[in-house]
Amino acid sequence: MGLRIKPLDDILATAEKKSLKRSLGAFQLTMMGIGAIIGTGIFVLTAEAAQKAGPGMMVSFIIAGFVCAVAALCYAELSSMVPVSGSAYTYSYAVLGEAIAWMVGWALVLEFAVAASAVSVGWSNYFVGLMERSFGIDLPEAFTKGLYAGGLINLPAATIAMLVTALLVIGTRESATVNSVLVAIKVVALTVFVILAVPVINGANFQPFAPNGFLDTTGLGVGVAGAAASIFFAYVGFDAVATAAEETKNPQRNIPVGLIGSLAICTVFYLLVAAGAVGAMGAQPVSDASGIPLSPGSEAFNAACALEANKNLLACSDEPLAHVLDMIGWSKVAQLIGLAAFLALPSVILMMLFGQTRIFFVMARDGLLPFNETLSKVHPKFGTPYIVTIITGVAVTVFAAFFPVGVLADISNSGTLFAFLMVSLGVMVLRRREPDRPRPFRTPAIWLVGPLAFAGCAFLLFSLPMTTQLTFLKWTAAGLVVYLLYGYRKSPLAGK
Ligand code: ALA
Repeated sequence: MGLRIKPLDDILATAEKKSLKRSLGAFQLTMMGIGAIIGTGIFVLTAEAAQKAGPGMMVSFIIAGFVCAVAALCYAELSSMVPVSGSAYTYSYAVLGEAIAWMVGWALVLEFAVAASAVSVGWSNYFVGLMERSFGIDLPEAFTKGLYAGGLINLPAATIAMLVTALLVIGTRESATVNSVLVAIKVVALTVFVILAVPVINGANFQPFAPNGFLDTTGLGVGVAGAAASIFFAYVGFDAVATAAEETKNPQRNIPVGLIGSLAICTVFYLLVAAGAVGAMGAQPVSDASGIPLSPGSEAFNAACALEANKNLLACSDEPLAHVLDMIGWSKVAQLIGLAAFLALPSVILMMLFGQTRIFFVMARDGLLPFNETLSKVHPKFGTPYIVTIITGVAVTVFAAFFPVGVLADISNSGTLFAFLMVSLGVMVLRRREPDRPRPFRTPAIWLVGPLAFAGCAFLLFSLPMTTQLTFLKWTAAGLVVYLLYGYRKSPLAGK
């Protein structure tokens, strides 16, 4: 059944039949990429990376960026050949067969929807900080944190998730314009951070460089490799560009430009920001009495961070970039960074939700989801797949309300890494199977880049915490059951 393949030409024909409006160009796509990439990863998970790796997180940023770069090169080839919505899901359908495509689509739910929840929680951190720093308002923890951190429900996170859903229902065009403004704000904020933090870098803050070692031996996903697997989240999103192929003018050229351009710009920013944060105030992790690093977000970790001696550590901060600026004497600018995150992180939520709804839309159009007729309905006035958007928005809101940011980010990464693994495999398979099919964008040195992308994704997947890997396995198993009970029988390819 893994070989039930939807021919590329069929995929292109289906897209013609029920299509979305083509309105996006290369510049808008690059902005979309940056809009989706720079977010909670750099603004919030920098603290998580410090806890997992210490100053060695610099290397984690490089490893994660490298894996994304090689994966993006593979992505770009497939997305230029199959310029329809659905990203990794659609590519796998054409290359690796329906069962694998379903698994990939299912994993992408983790990637996009759970990422949208993670970013909502990250936004909530900055919102709470902004209220406190700028207005002296101390919001009650019961309503700003989930149970995991001693609260009840994260209301700010839930609210922003709902607002963004509403924006998406109104339509892509408006959303892309709003996105451009917010991207500008983020880029200015990171630039200001670099300008203020890099000059006060102190070499001593890089020592000891990797207090938790390189490879994880605890199952908690710590060490430089564990931090790379988590901070991978900071780069996720460039593939949201590929999911918009059906709404793109001249996708053969514009999609690869948008993918690779946005990733390159973000990588440069991240390395500078990470160097500034570590160098300006140090990045040592908090450990238990026997020196074992504590798992970020755990109760023991929260207790350790509440201690006077630890509470100012980078690893303990909920809004690390604002915190670093505070610590080096730029409190007013810290407030502005907080404001920038507050204004701009919603654009990331928007892109993640956008990607998710387009994948559901295509899966429904392929007849693989129950109620596919209803799900693939396009709004008569706004031209958006509004039903899937609303359903996804509700799920994202619930997760944002009750789960910690690091856990959500790791789960999202597991789905993304699996999808990227399949894409790198797919691009190699297709080179062999259909060497003569036109490739508007060819991955350079595919027999080097493809295996590197595959191995890199597998390495990061196995560097995630054991609990995350288990969650991923359970989710995948549930997906297989749904596929066998529904999609396999109902697929238009059934009986072929
Ligand atoms: N890369 C996105 C972020 O860091 C998902 O928020």
